[in-house]
Amino acid sequence: MSSTAIVLAAGLGVRMKSNKPKVLHAAAGRPLIDHVVTNLMASGVETVRLVVGHGSDEVKKYFNGRSGVEFFLQKNQLGTADAVKSAQVNSLTGIVVIGNGDHPLIKAEDYKDALIAFEENRCDLMVVSSVVRDPTSFGRIVRESGKFARIIEEKEATESEKKIHEINSGLYVVKSDVLKKFLPLIENKNKKKEYYLTDLVALALNADLKVIAHRAKARVSRGVNNQMELAMATRSLFMRKNKELMENGVTIIDPGNTYIEAQVAVGAGTTIYPGCFIQGSTVIGNDCVIESHCQIQNSRIGNDVEIRWGSLVDQSEIQKGARVGPYARVRPESLVGENAHVGNFVELKKARLAEGVKANHLTYLGDVEIGENTNVGCGTITCNYAVDKKKYKTHIGKNVFIGSDTQLIAPVSVGDNAVIGSGSTITKDVPANALAVARGRQFIKENYKKDK
Ligand code: UD1
Ligand code: MG
Repeated sequence: MSSTAIVLAAGLGVRMKSNKPKVLHAAAGRPLIDHVVTNLMASGVETVRLVVGHGSDEVKKYFNGRSGVEFFLQKNQLGTADAVKSAQVNSLTGIVVIGNGDHPLIKAEDYKDALIAFEENRCDLMVVSSVVRDPTSFGRIVRESGKFARIIEEKEATESEKKIHEINSGLYVVKSDVLKKFLPLIENKNKKKEYYLTDLVALALNADLKVIAHRAKARVSRGVNNQMELAMATRSLFMRKNKELMENGVTIIDPGNTYIEAQVAVGAGTTIYPGCFIQGSTVIGNDCVIESHCQIQNSRIGNDVEIRWGSLVDQSEIQKGARVGPYARVRPESLVGENAHVGNFVELKKARLAEGVKANHLTYLGDVEIGENTNVGCGTITCNYAVDKKKYKTHIGKNVFIGSDTQLIAPVSVGDNAVIGSGSTITKDVPANALAVARGRQFIKENYKKDK
């Protein structure tokens, strides 16, 4: 049956003590609300109706027209039932999943399990519960002679009800017709003067509908309300990813200090040292070594690549057998070809290095193409930025030898097999097979000091 999700994300999140809407705070590289929406969609939900309030413009802007995500404004935060009402429930059909926007640890499989349990038990309304060590602040699941009777909020609970450890996770599955019928009947006669969505349970039970509390893993109830909980959620998400990679043959020296985002793929046999951030859509091949404190974002790393200590790689490709770093910076749209070496304090930007190129020390290569097996000497600079504030290109052929401390003033090209003398400032094209030297000649005046 078709299913829609309503995600509640209108709350202010006062305890975050931040100007940003709570659900836009990032856990493991992505806003809380993104985890929730992405996982709901992955579980097979077709549309997500996001109930927004505080910071609604920023939340909308973040999703920027992502397909399947719709926005509904809750003007005043009058409670969870009012929030659901804001999502125009009368236009819903099929089954509705209701969840909180600040529960990033719920996996797609948890949503799927809930939907399956709902169908299997022929439910009209299902509350997903979990048993937790500290139930404080949660709604408690009250069972009478084993049968689910109601949810009682912390504020309204008696001392004995407060001792119940089975709590309402805030995740529900409900038939749209049930929601349409009972949501308008919920009143705000309680201590908080709020419309509690949890009152749906008693209303549906009174009407003899099938209502169950379905126990799930504790992670479904782990919301983020303050910075500490955000950090804990981030830790859990990174640990989850590390575990999954280790199960698939990746060696992670210290999983507590390795930060790999969910979408990243890493091949078996690769070793990752502590302190690395591997982000976005990065794909790393087999048998690589990623040393400590590297940041790799949205990049493709082939097999047998070594990224040494403290290197940054952003939106670039490093091909099989190449070596980058220590302390290299590979900026967007660069390519390091097979078996090429990029060494310490080398910066690349829109630089395409063919197979076997070596640029091992203290070099800036920007807006440049370099042919195979060319050796770029220490301290080489492609001077790509001119006084007219435009960027110009440098072309360097294959098997070229560029002496140390060479500046190439772009636009300029160097032919195959050319040799450039150390310390040259190259302003004119160098033909293939030529030697170019462009530096002041050494001048010697004998006995200079003595004459003075
Ligand atoms: C709610 C449940 C409680 C459950 C807990 C799980 C109710 C009455 N209680 O309590 O049983 O154990 O969640 O986390 O539902 N929101 C809006 N608009 C509003 C109010 C809330 O969008 O007017 C959103 C919040 O941003 C949040 C979610 O709804 O994402 C839950 O609201 P919150 O105030 O945290 O409810 P709890 O008191 O924690
Ligand atoms: Mg809450």
